[in-house]
Amino acid sequence: MKIETLRWINNKLEMIDQRILPAAFEYVSYDSAAAVAEGIRSMVVRGAPAIGVAAAYGVALEALRLQDKSAADFKAGMEAGISVLLQSRPTAVNLFWALQRMRTVLEGVATQTPQQIAQRLLAEAHEVLAEDIRINKAMGANGAALLKDGARVLTHCNAGALATAGWGTALGVIRSAVEAGKKISVIADETRPFLQGARLTAWEMVQENIPVTLITDNMAGHMMARGEVDAVVVGTDRVAANGDVANKIGTYMVAVLAQWHNIPFYVACPISTIDMNIATGADIPIEERSVEEVKGFRDYHWAAEGVTIRNPAFDVTPAELVTGLITERGVVLKPDVQSIRKLMGK
Ligand code: MRU
Repeated sequence: MKIETLRWINNKLEMIDQRILPAAFEYVSYDSAAAVAEGIRSMVVRGAPAIGVAAAYGVALEALRLQDKSAADFKAGMEAGISVLLQSRPTAVNLFWALQRMRTVLEGVATQTPQQIAQRLLAEAHEVLAEDIRINKAMGANGAALLKDGARVLTHCNAGALATAGWGTALGVIRSAVEAGKKISVIADETRPFLQGARLTAWEMVQENIPVTLITDNMAGHMMARGEVDAVVVGTDRVAANGDVANKIGTYMVAVLAQWHNIPFYVACPISTIDMNIATGADIPIEERSVEEVKGFRDYHWAAEGVTIRNPAFDVTPAELVTGLITERGVVLKPDVQSIRKLMGK
């Protein structure tokens, strides 16, 4: 089964509802920037590249929705729509990258009619989606070469087809290695509290018959100590100019463990996820999500009533702990300021 995380049907955007997977597989339909922003905020769609693609379609949908307005109303409406999308989630830089790309297109065709602008923005959103899949395949090929035949690969969160327009970043590396004929098995961290590992990574791997073993997050050290992990591959939401990596909460813990056990720790990272405007990981905005996610699941609360709860959704892994950044332009071993500047052509 080909996983189409986002698809364009009858002039609407449809996205797989990732809040209810794997119990149910359903698409939700979107027809405005505000609706897409809400879909991103509530995690119908999640994962840095997928958020970027959704935001690009959000801009196109808003243009289609407003295309019969006067030029002035259209312009004001587009600004308002982009502003709502900008506020949907703070950590994944792909959101801001995609919105900037759409804004540049919008400004470039500002003198055209709203109908023409809407068509141009829609074409750009389609291109953002197609490009994401191409990039993931290139990254996958670059990363697959790093995994030996028979490798047992631990991953955290979901950096798969569901987190992108298709194929995936970290899981894309695994898919590409499998496609190249290597026998790869996956160890999926459950990824508390939103359970992207248990619900989404496990589901994706099961769909494709790639052997996968689910563990709770606190089992990773034990598995490494027993020699049951050959490599770690994760995705990322934002990489700072010095190579520090923001990713799902718990990634830092895995990176420290990997270093201690001498296990390579790779980060699959499309170029659009590198933020040259942020010097170090300390400046990356970290989303704090609702405490309800930690308190229990849906209506059931296991935490003691009255306890203080924190829910930072991401953490930062220092560049020193990263064995290599796997990008569509190649692998950057031991990333630092110089190697990232070179990668970005700066
Ligand atoms: O909160 P989420 O589910 O959006 O977090 C997703 C992650 O942390 C992924 O690892 C990251 O976005 C990379 S996805 C290719």
